[in-house]
Amino acid sequence: MGSRIVATGRATPRTLITNQDLERRMDTSDEWVRTRTGISRRYVMSSGESLIDVAAEASREALERASIEPVDLEAIIVGTVSSDYGFPSFACQLQHRLGVDSIPAFDVAAACSGFIYALSVADTAMRAGDWSKILVIGADALSTMVDWNDRTTAVLFGDGAGAAVMVTEPGPRGVLGSLLRSSGEYWDLLTVRNRGTQNTFDAEARRSCDDAIQMKGPELFKIAVKSMEDVSRKVIERAGVRLEEINLIVPHQANIRILNAVAQRLGLSADKVFTNIDRYGNTSAASVPIALDEALEANRIHDNDLVLLNACGGGLTWGANLLRW
Ligand code: ACO
Repeated sequence: MGSRIVATGRATPRTLITNQDLERRMDTSDEWVRTRTGISRRYVMSSGESLIDVAAEASREALERASIEPVDLEAIIVGTVSSDYGFPSFACQLQHRLGVDSIPAFDVAAACSGFIYALSVADTAMRAGDWSKILVIGADALSTMVDWNDRTTAVLFGDGAGAAVMVTEPGPRGVLGSLLRSSGEYWDLLTVRNRGTQNTFDAEARRSCDDAIQMKGPELFKIAVKSMEDVSRKVIERAGVRLEEINLIVPHQANIRILNAVAQRLGLSADKVFTNIDRYGNTSAASVPIALDEALEANRIHDNDLVLLNACGGGLTWGANLLRW
């Protein structure tokens, strides 16, 4: 028995901010942000909004498309670092919002690699025969964790959630393999102190600089490229597949230059890499499932295609999943 994604869904908060909006707020330019990152706009949380609602919307969409009722789920796993509470977990709050009772629900904290990790955990449990229907989600709101006066981080992040319904299935389709890595040695390249998601773009009380996301961007850039290349090569090799057989990479949308560099090092053309960073920014754990949902909607993925998901994020963490669609 293996596991397969049978449906996906996505949702974002309502507020869309463009690079021009940011130009009015800090010393930056649309030109700098577009050329250095590939980002033009991003959705961000506003006061009164809840990321649980956003995640519930993405989850309901995925469940509806899978024709599975929330009550039929056997587990909920959320890749997130954006819970308003230390406990209960984001997953338990979402479980309640979806009206599901008495099934295991838990978070996986791996920053931008959260969905890749959660998918791998789900696949392993399903292969072991523990559960046969799982909802796997990536949800984050890193825009609420930046210092809006720090142009080196404030321009990068957006908020949202993506969901995938996984079922056990015999046969050749589904998750062929996953590879997860982390290296605490690099813990201080990307950090934030835990404060929940109340510091929205429009909030009056601002996060102090010390509380906000601290990032060593150029160092992170280099490690992200190397680690995403390395883990992609290894997961492909372990599955006995050749690189040129990959039909589409759906990577974590960190920076268009990171995505292009990874594709180049893998020897894959840019048209094999799905990107939507221009419209979302870096949505952390939500970025891979949102991109996967959009790639399906755009008909970029067909039955039996080989699809590679990969990511790198704070921790540092990185990983990849290889899927036969
Ligand atoms: N607007 C205008 N100028 C800016 C801005 C901005 N928003 N931000 C930085 N600059 C300036 C800097 O001050 C610097 O000016 P100086 O030369 O006068 O000192 C100049 O632009 C170049 O700055 P660098 O930091 O060297 O720019 P770089 O080309 O490395 O791009 C970036 C910065 C986009 C952060 C890049 O390093 C990056 O993407 N790193 C990876 C970080 C990342 O993706 N983090 C997300 C989480 S982890 C992950 O998802 C992989």
